Amino acid sequence: MKKLGNKVVYELYPSSFYDSNNDGYGDIKGIVEKLDYLQLLGVDYIWITPVFKSPKNDNGYDVANYCEIDPIFGSMEDVDLLISEAKKRNIGIMLDMVFNHVSSESQWFQEALKGNKKYQDYFYIVKSDDKNSPPSNWVSKFGGSAWQYQEEFNGYYLHLFDKTQVDLKWKNKKVRKELIKVLNFWLKKGICGFRFDVVNLIGKPNEFKDSKDFGKHLYTDHPDVHEYLKLINKKSFGKYDTSITVGEMSSTTIDNCIKYTNPNEKELDMVFNFHHLKVDYKNGNKWENKPWDKKEFKQLIKDWQLGLQNKGWNAIFLNNHDQPRVNSRYGDVSKYWFESSTLFATLVFTLQGTPFIYQGEEIGMTNPYFKTIGEYRDVESINAYNELKQKNKKEKDILEILSVKSRDNSRTPVQWDDSRYAGFSKSKPWIDVSSNYKQINVKKQIYDENSVFNFYRKLISLRKSNELLYDGNIEFIDSDENTLMFKRSLNNKSLLVLLSLVNKPSKVNLSKFKLKDILINNYKDFDKKTLKPYQSLVIELE
Ligand code: GLC
Repeated sequence: MKKLGNKVVYELYPSSFYDSNNDGYGDIKGIVEKLDYLQLLGVDYIWITPVFKSPKNDNGYDVANYCEIDPIFGSMEDVDLLISEAKKRNIGIMLDMVFNHVSSESQWFQEALKGNKKYQDYFYIVKSDDKNSPPSNWVSKFGGSAWQYQEEFNGYYLHLFDKTQVDLKWKNKKVRKELIKVLNFWLKKGICGFRFDVVNLIGKPNEFKDSKDFGKHLYTDHPDVHEYLKLINKKSFGKYDTSITVGEMSSTTIDNCIKYTNPNEKELDMVFNFHHLKVDYKNGNKWENKPWDKKEFKQLIKDWQLGLQNKGWNAIFLNNHDQPRVNSRYGDVSKYWFESSTLFATLVFTLQGTPFIYQGEEIGMTNPYFKTIGEYRDVESINAYNELKQKNKKEKDILEILSVKSRDNSRTPVQWDDSRYAGFSKSKPWIDVSSNYKQINVKKQIYDENSVFNFYRKLISLRKSNELLYDGNIEFIDSDENTLMFKRSLNNKSLLVLLSLVNKPSKVNLSKFKLKDILINNYKDFDKKTLKPYQSLVIELE
């Protein structure tokens, strides 16, 4: 098995990372300028969300050309510079491949619109004269039908996301060849790996049937996905020993994820699953709030850790560009900002798998708590707002839901310092900076031993130097609902990880353990019987 456990990946959302040319939009040169910062933090890879040519209806996840850089982010020369400057610092660059769909502005779709049969076969088009009767009841993940009527096609095309994100027909060999060409183009340039966007949705059934779950089980984890992944692996990144790949898996299963990541299968190195980030969805509905269900969260962590142990490999994360900030979400940032931020950090760095940090997480950035719809930019959030309005939900209640669940919660600019626009740009950013940037910013934390930033640095260096953490087995220990405890063991050595998930003290019974040194603690002390609010510790065992 590739040794990925001691590697750390940093996810970077370029439009909000750092703006080098002061147009209000982050760019590739901005990343180059901050590479020393990322090296200081201690990361091995940077995964950059899409910077390809795009109309940006979904912030770049609607790619118009996979081999061209969008001018708002810079140029191909900037990417070359980034690759070489990152390499000097032992940092590898991973790109985000959005291969389930392509933008309706892509040349492929434009040719299809012109009547070019070759390109029409790149998409799922179903002929029909009836504009009011889509081929199936499938629903788009961004709301409404997954089918769009298009006069030029005399029929409907499939889009599992926005109508400008058209699903690619992987069944067509020509499509597969095009996409493999894209991967090899980037590998040749020196890109060392990829994150594959919603990649378990690329297989589609032969027929489009109605289903009770609006298509979900028919297009999720289709058996063809495994074949497609084996193919792209063999024809592109699989040829490079040092490549690294992670697949984003939507509503997936443990069994499929074992197959996706078991080295013998030669598909991907690791997977993101999202079940643990849905425990605050009321009855499975994202747009209804409920407090997070800690019991369910713990169970999911346990099931996925044990499920993949010795069989597959997890990518470990609690934040990304689609998720609200976890400290605001599952923690208590009003009273325990430092403690909640460092608690969740400890969890990510002590589980089995490869840890991922999302930009700003390393300084404890929080949700911005936007108050008006005008502050939101995200297509999913704006669609949800309109749908909830149509259902006659009160404006105040909708805004409350968005302030907790919107993807924009994690997309606000990185807070570099306490100057105007948080040092992200000299111009008004494309999305507002969170109002707490004077209290929470890089400048304030970088030289402060006791900051969230330096806690992350300690965790990263602990993770890299301690083989129990990156290679050890995991075993969960029974505890009450408010705490999570597990052991990591290797060659007769063990570590104990203790995590309090609540904003009040919780009792723990450690009488059966012989405790040695405390390797990390987000408080100054530890009384052995009680965990303080959001306390997290890693302790060596005899
Ligand atoms: C993934 C991306 C998300 C995007 C969607 C459609 O979930 O992370 O940002 O909107 O795929 O490409």
